[in-house]
Amino acid sequence: MVGLITGAGTGIGQAMALALAKHGATIILVGRRREPLIQTASLITQAGGQAWPIVCDLSDRQAVAALAAQIKQRYVQLDLLIHNAALLTGGAFDQLPESAILATLNTNLLHPIWLTRQLLPKTVLIVGSTVSRVAMPGTSLYSLSKAALEAWGLALTAETSIKVVRAYPPATKTAITAAMAQQTGQRFPLAESSRVGEQIIQRYLAGETEIVLSASDRLLFRLQRYAPKLVQALLKRYRQQLIKLWGAKID
Ligand SMILES: NC(=O)c1ccc[n+]([C@@H]2O[C@H](COP(=O)([O-])OP(=O)(O)OC[C@H]3O[C@@H](n4cnc5c(N)ncnc54)[C@H](OP(=O)(O)O)[C@@H]3O)[C@@H](O)[C@H]2O)c1
Repeated sequence: MVGLITGAGTGIGQAMALALAKHGATIILVGRRREPLIQTASLITQAGGQAWPIVCDLSDRQAVAALAAQIKQRYVQLDLLIHNAALLTGGAFDQLPESAILATLNTNLLHPIWLTRQLLPKTVLIVGSTVSRVAMPGTSLYSLSKAALEAWGLALTAETSIKVVRAYPPATKTAITAAMAQQTGQRFPLAESSRVGEQIIQRYLAGETEIVLSASDRLLFRLQRYAPKLVQALLKRYRQQLIKLWGAKID
């Protein structure tokens, strides 16, 4: 099996890369920074797997086109393409800088779609988020990018033979949540990224197409479906805190 994972140098992406490599896959590791990609690649090779790190900024259309061309020279078709890299651009909607809006839409939505069109893999795995299904203050842009990618994925699987898997990680200990905790002083329970990545891959290999890992997300999704007004009233009550939490800078 040959798979490509974006954002594979750190967090959940790195954990999924290591978990897939354990199953004998060759993994193409994509990210902006070379160092974390090399580190992930060396963990994979130490464990007997194969990795190909490629530096690429997904917000840059030309870089994404070059990435696709490089891969097509070596492989006819990928078995798996995991859209994991994402920018969390949160905070008050009216204060989001235009450049951040464009970078987020390019990185989280447009260029993953563009990359998929270039590569036409057998399976696409989308790393989603709770906020694509539950409208949360402070997440308008992030939630748009995640929800739109999921909607695109569902339409893609309805139209083509490409299988689409959606995975919803719980709140997980990574750079994204570390920044939130540091800037707001709030502490919340966080899952280990190694376990989250491992579970997503296990459930993908078991054939699941909608992977919701935490019981609290399952409950929230059900509440959102059957009692949306209650959920919205509760979230609105904590609007200011949530805007501050989601607006934590991660770069
Ligand atoms: N952590 C959570 O609680 C949580 C919960 C639900 C969903 N998620 C989702 O899980 C996914 C992984 O996030 P994470 O929590 O593991 O955080 P993370 O460790 O910060 O991972 C994000 C990865 O994306 C890469 N990346 C960011 N912008 C990029 C760009 N323009 N081009 C290429 N690569 C880029 C980063 O690498 P470089 O900086 O080197 O480019 C990094 O490796 C994201 O889609 C996130 O929305 C996370």
